[in-house]
Parts: sequence; structure tokens; C-alpha cells
Amino acid sequence: MISLGLENVVVAETDLSLVDGLKGHLVYRNHWARDLAINNTFEEVAHLLWYGHLPSEQELADLNAKLVANRELPAHVKAVVDAMPDDMDMMEVLRTGVASLPLAGDTWPPTLDQIIYLTAKLPTIIAHRYARLNNREPVAPRTDLGHTANYLYMLKGEEPLTAHVRAFDAYLILTQEHGLNASTFTARVIASTRSDLVSSITGAIGALKGPLHGGAPSEVTEMIEAIGTKENAEPWIKAKLAAGERLMGFGHRIYRTTDPRAIALSKVASELTAEDKWFDLAVHVEQIALRLLKEHKPNRPLETNVEFYAAAVMRAIGLPDELFTPSFAVSRTVGWSAHVLEAAKGKIIRPQSNYTGTMPE
Ligand SMILES: CC(C)(COP(=O)(O)OP(=O)(O)OC[C@H]1O[C@@H](n2cnc3c(N)ncnc32)[C@H](O)[C@@H]1OP(=O)(O)O)[C@@H](O)C(=O)NCCC(=O)NCCS
Repeated sequence: MISLGLENVVVAETDLSLVDGLKGHLVYRNHWARDLAINNTFEEVAHLLWYGHLPSEQELADLNAKLVANRELPAHVKAVVDAMPDDMDMMEVLRTGVASLPLAGDTWPPTLDQIIYLTAKLPTIIAHRYARLNNREPVAPRTDLGHTANYLYMLKGEEPLTAHVRAFDAYLILTQEHGLNASTFTARVIASTRSDLVSSITGAIGALKGPLHGGAPSEVTEMIEAIGTKENAEPWIKAKLAAGERLMGFGHRIYRTTDPRAIALSKVASELTAEDKWFDLAVHVEQIALRLLKEHKPNRPLETNVEFYAAAVMRAIGLPDELFTPSFAVSRTVGWSAHVLEAAKGKIIRPQSNYTGTMPE
């Protein structure tokens, strides 16, 4: 029997996360992801996923110190990023920048030090490129700011508002880990061959870039902007569905109910954007889209997914569309690398295909 897209096929055991599509549950190692997003920081949740428990004060200080010490880019990585033509997509630049990172020592088996080194570098690669595109000198990373605050600081060139750091942290925590999604599976496949950590993360970035996976949030803002007014929502969506197109920010391989991350992020976004016209329109579009999707596919629950409100949060804190998917990569690197540690202990991943061609004479 063939399962196209590996739908409903279980290929690994993990103690990193539970994604329950019927109940709408997301658990990171015995903790509700939604609670972690409110009560914890990026670094604390990364520690939970990498080391198996939330950190003590000392463990957190140690992790922070290592992340901070690894933020600067080697000169050759800056040169690689600078050499890429301006019209190359930020995800292509990130993929190439990450691919050029040297790993010290043995490249196998992957280590937590390598993981921390790599995780610390992604925000700096993105901010370096973003500054260059905006004709600014890249801002050096600060050592006194957390991972999220420092990322925003490097992007904007000024210290970010506490409310923005908290909201962005919530988004980054909620997207750190999510079972065997396409990019995590990619990372695991590469790790299962005993290739190195940089190769796993580079491959995962390539998978995340696709509009059906991590490329959706920027298309959500494009959709809201194209709709423009509340009156236009219904005819616009009807026309798209009639043309056989997909609405970005809706539907999910696993969730048959609202994505719990969308619920958490809609709250975060609404607190940031009270009385914002764009947000008001987005909420209206969501309601119309849900009704029309029900009529369009009565037998397939198509509910709001994380990308819809991820777009709202990132827009509210002033990030342009081109930074949405790269920022997703900043957080998902945590989950990818935790999976790499698991997959590195397992069997090489090698499914089969049925040959449908003809045989030679
Ligand atoms: C996420 C996604 C790729 C899951 O895909 P999947 O599990 O393979 O589901 P399928 O492609 O089998 O979809 C089932 C049916 O619903 C339709 N459908 C799924 N998502 C849809 C959407 N967002 N808008 C309109 N129709 C949709 C499909 O066209 C398909 O119809 P068909 O059976 O007539 O071909 C899909 O829902 C999608 O493309 N969503 C939009 C992109 C997005 O928001 N991605 C972010 C995910 S977090």
C-alpha cells in the first residue's frame, strides 16, 4: 500500500513533542507549548528540548553565555552573504550562509556545542543581510540581550520594546518544535545518514522555504492586502477557491481543529494591535474564509493554522514580509537540531517506491 505524502505513516519515536491533531494539543516534553510561550523564554524552552528539562538558574546562565559567545559570524561567512546578489531571496541567503558555517572538531556525532553554535548564528546571518539590503552597516550583536531581543536589536539597529520582545518570543517558542513536519523530517533523513549537523539544518531550511510549509505567512499578508476591504473578502476568497487555489494560513496535515499555536498567537497579536485596521480586517477575513472553506470542502476540516497569526504578530512588531520565514527558521532550528540528536542514534531512513515505468526488452 502506498501512502502519498507519507500521510498517517509513523516513522519515528520521539520524546520531544506531541502534536494531537484531533484534540488540538501541542506538548513539548510534558509541558503545554502554549504555557511555555507565556511563562518562559526562547533559551529556557530550547534548553527543555535539547537537554530534556527546563534549566536551573545556573544551567540557564551557562546556556546564555554559550549562545552569546557564538553570535559573531566568521569573516568568510560575511563575505559569502555579501557576495550574493541583492535579488536573491532571504531564505536562499540564509541557506547558503548556514551551509558555509564551519563546525569545529569531529562532525559526527552531532554535539550540543555544535547545536548552540549554529543556533546563535542564524539571527546574525539574517540581520547582516537585512542591513546590507537596506544600505546600513550591519549592527554587531550585543552580549547583554537575550536571543530574541538581540535578534530584533540587530534587525532594527535600536533596542526593541519589551512588549515586542515578549510577543516575538512567544511566536518563536511556539514554532520551535512540531513533530515530523516536512523540514524536521528532512533534517532527520540527513542526520540518519551520519552526515553533519550543518547539512541537516541546511536541508531543513530548503524544505521550510516552500510556500506549503514555512513560506505561508508572507503570503497571508499579501492576501490581506490584496483583499483590502471587508466587503471584498467574500468575493475575493470565492474567486480564489473557484480557481482551485489554496488560502494561505488555513489547513494542516495533522490538525483537524484550530491549530493551538494560532489560538495562542491570535491572543498575542490582539494584545499588540488593539484597534489596528489591518488586524481587524485579518480577523474578518479569517471568519469569512472559515465559512467558505467549509462550503468548499465539507468533508475536510480546514481551520486556521499557525501561519495566519504568525503573520499578524510579525507585522505588529514591524518585521517586513521577507523576514517572516527566516524568523521561523531561527526558532525551528531548535527543534530540527533536537531531532538530529535523536535521529543520529537511529537507522538510516530509506523508504521504497513502486516502479511504474516499463521494463527493457
Ligand atoms: C498545510 C497543507 C499543505 C496540508 O496539506 P495536506 O495535508 O496534504 O492536505 P491536502 O493537500 O490533501 O488537502 C485536502 C484537500 O483540501 C484542500 N485544501 C487544503 N488546504 C487548503 C487551503 N488552505 N485552501 C483551500 N483548499 C485547501 C486541498 O486542495 C485538497 O482538496 P482536493 O482533495 O480536492 O485536492 C494544506 O492545507 C495547505 O496547502 N495549506 C495552505 C498553506 C499553508 O497555510 N501552509 C502552512 C501550514 S502550517
